[in-house]
Amino acid sequence: MSEFLTARLRQKQDQHKPIVSITAYDYFTALIAREADVDFVLVGDSLGNVVQGAKTTVPVTLEQAIYHTRLVCAHFPAERVVLDMPFGTFKLEAHETVHNAVHAFKESGCGGVKFEGANHENIFATRKLVDAGVPVLGHIGLQPQRVHTEGGYRMQGKTPAQAEQIMTEARALEDAGAFAVVLECVVPELAERITAALKIPTIGIGCGPSTDGQIIVMHDILGMLPGKAPSFARQYAQLFEEAVRATAAYAEDVRQGRFPVVGTPKPARIYGSD
Ligand code: KIV
Repeated sequence: MSEFLTARLRQKQDQHKPIVSITAYDYFTALIAREADVDFVLVGDSLGNVVQGAKTTVPVTLEQAIYHTRLVCAHFPAERVVLDMPFGTFKLEAHETVHNAVHAFKESGCGGVKFEGANHENIFATRKLVDAGVPVLGHIGLQPQRVHTEGGYRMQGKTPAQAEQIMTEARALEDAGAFAVVLECVVPELAERITAALKIPTIGIGCGPSTDGQIIVMHDILGMLPGKAPSFARQYAQLFEEAVRATAAYAEDVRQGRFPVVGTPKPARIYGSD
């Protein structure tokens, strides 16, 4: 299986094997994704929510995205890491999008970039970037960066007009050279139609089972944070609860004099050596 993102995804699609993707943001999450052998990792701007604790993804900066992508690229095959372009760094002017994406690609060492939406500027920028050698992952349907104008997070493509618009955007991204397209919270029947209509793979989140692959926010399936995960994210672990339980046990042991134990400590382990 190819180490390069575009080739690997094509191979998976040709073999009718589901493409598996998840978000990662640092050493810990990159190691989890690597050991679980996912096909590619997205350093999502969801880092605003799950790493920075912000209500939306809007505050994330390009330098923060580059910083987190570098951390991930050091511990997961960098060719298969995608950097998610943050709010305000693309879409407004195509030449700025190209400039910002080339900067992010070069500085982070990742294997591709993603941006939300398929307006004229994004389509133009996708063409330019792909021509220059930067793989582009599209993202249509629900666009969390538009939460303020949309007034919330909702399923997309419910009306015939919306469905036609999303189908047109998907085709435009494919024509412009995107290597795949993320469909977020698109009604399952439309996600299925788009998947059948495109040659490039579709990667779904909250769209049902018909897309060529799935992507999810790691924190949502591992229960790494308190509170409710989106309903489409199955919970495979409850790490937050377990970490609080373990930390409280440590605190209690220190308070009761049960930790540390008497004896000569060994030198610390070396982090980052995997
Ligand atoms: O930012 C993110 O994590 C994403 C995925 C969930 C698609 O865009």
